[in-house]
Amino acid sequence: MKLLIIGSGGREHALAWKLIQSPRVEKVFVAPGNAGTAHEHGLENIAITAIPALIDFAQSQKVAFTVVGPELPLADGIVDAFLDAGLKIFGPSRQAAQLEISKSFAKNFMQRHNIPTAAYSTFTNAQAAHEYIEQQGAPIVIKAAGLAAGKGVIVAPSLEKAHSAVDQILITKLFGEAGAEVIIEEFLQGTEVSFIVMCDGHHILPLATSQDHKRLFDGDTGPNTGGMGAYSPTPFISPGLHAQILREVIYPVVQGMTQEGVSYTGFLYAGLMITPNNQVKVLEFNCRMGDPETQPILMRLKSDLASLIEHALNGTLDQAETDWDRRVALGIVMAAGGYPENPQKGDSITGLSDLMTKQNTTNDFHIFHSGTALNSHDQQQFITAGGRVLCVTALGDNLKLAQQRAYELTKQIRYNNSYMRHDIGHNGIEFLHKP
Ligand code: AMP
Ligand code: GLY
Repeated sequence: MKLLIIGSGGREHALAWKLIQSPRVEKVFVAPGNAGTAHEHGLENIAITAIPALIDFAQSQKVAFTVVGPELPLADGIVDAFLDAGLKIFGPSRQAAQLEISKSFAKNFMQRHNIPTAAYSTFTNAQAAHEYIEQQGAPIVIKAAGLAAGKGVIVAPSLEKAHSAVDQILITKLFGEAGAEVIIEEFLQGTEVSFIVMCDGHHILPLATSQDHKRLFDGDTGPNTGGMGAYSPTPFISPGLHAQILREVIYPVVQGMTQEGVSYTGFLYAGLMITPNNQVKVLEFNCRMGDPETQPILMRLKSDLASLIEHALNGTLDQAETDWDRRVALGIVMAAGGYPENPQKGDSITGLSDLMTKQNTTNDFHIFHSGTALNSHDQQQFITAGGRVLCVTALGDNLKLAQQRAYELTKQIRYNNSYMRHDIGHNGIEFLHKP
């Protein structure tokens, strides 16, 4: 069968790479894909992004099913449009995706269904927001209610920062309509983990646990980014905590959506804070897999992903099982200087082709591409073309060994203005070595 993946990042490269390993999959189209998916055996990029043209393509190629990588096409209603055209697609409807698209919907939904999250209030009026901040004190968290490409959350250490964040969102309209409303939230302390499951509307299938490093600088400091590196599994989620997350968060979300007349189908990603006394609090929901979490998670998946998605599309996820590599996978994002604000593009990447040849003979690492392109004069030369360029992902017998292997590999890849963090996995390693 032929499949179609929507998106162009490292997550989509990993999804397509994993799906083509299924013996029943003859081809995976990636729309629009990147230079990594262009080079991978069995994958083919197609330069289409408009939903009606994607529908025509899927029909003409007899695509068995489509998987949506990023949130924007979900917000644009791609799933609804494909289903109306009689095509199979894995992802939530536009209405179900409100869990990610609208942070105020998500917060109010959690309140309606007793799902643990930080205390909050929502405002459209700046004066009322300023008064609330004065009452609550700092640190405090200010969030634009709509989709703001991961930039709409300001963790304000001081009252001054909090007030200015409110003004930037509600008055200067830094995020446009996504900032028509702000959420002001209690600051939570603890460890952040990513908990991703597949849903078929009724049943859920948890994927392996993972942890992302969202801050730009070492030591988890600096501004938030899409994610600078991730690993799987995370030692922070014990079997007891795993059961607690399913009981307190995941089941209530799926049941709550059903009660409200919306069936949730697709990946569901809960960004969670585990507080020092082992409470679980939801920071956010994403209606898709994480990037870069997908890369280490799928490195460890031994089961056939195409079969798992077919179960999800048929409503039989309760019959599906997953088998995971017992090793740890760790992915380091190699970014372009200036990321996330103003990434430098067009630099030639050296050392990458050799590693991509080598990865086909060993199965303990893979370089997933995000912002890469091919030089228009030399189709063998990779150049940087986005903020996050590559995710160098390696397996190791433990977290430390996976980290060492992945960092060794990054040393072989060079381009001007390269930037990465040097401590991906540090908190998991510290936790494991705690007396
Ligand atoms: P979000 O997009 O809502 O997940 O927020 C982005 C990041 O901001 C999260 O990954 C956290 O690191 C941080 N964050 C969000 N909400 C809070 C909170 N209530 N307390 C502390 N940090 C937060
Ligand atoms: N890595 C965080 C995200 O995908 O939203």
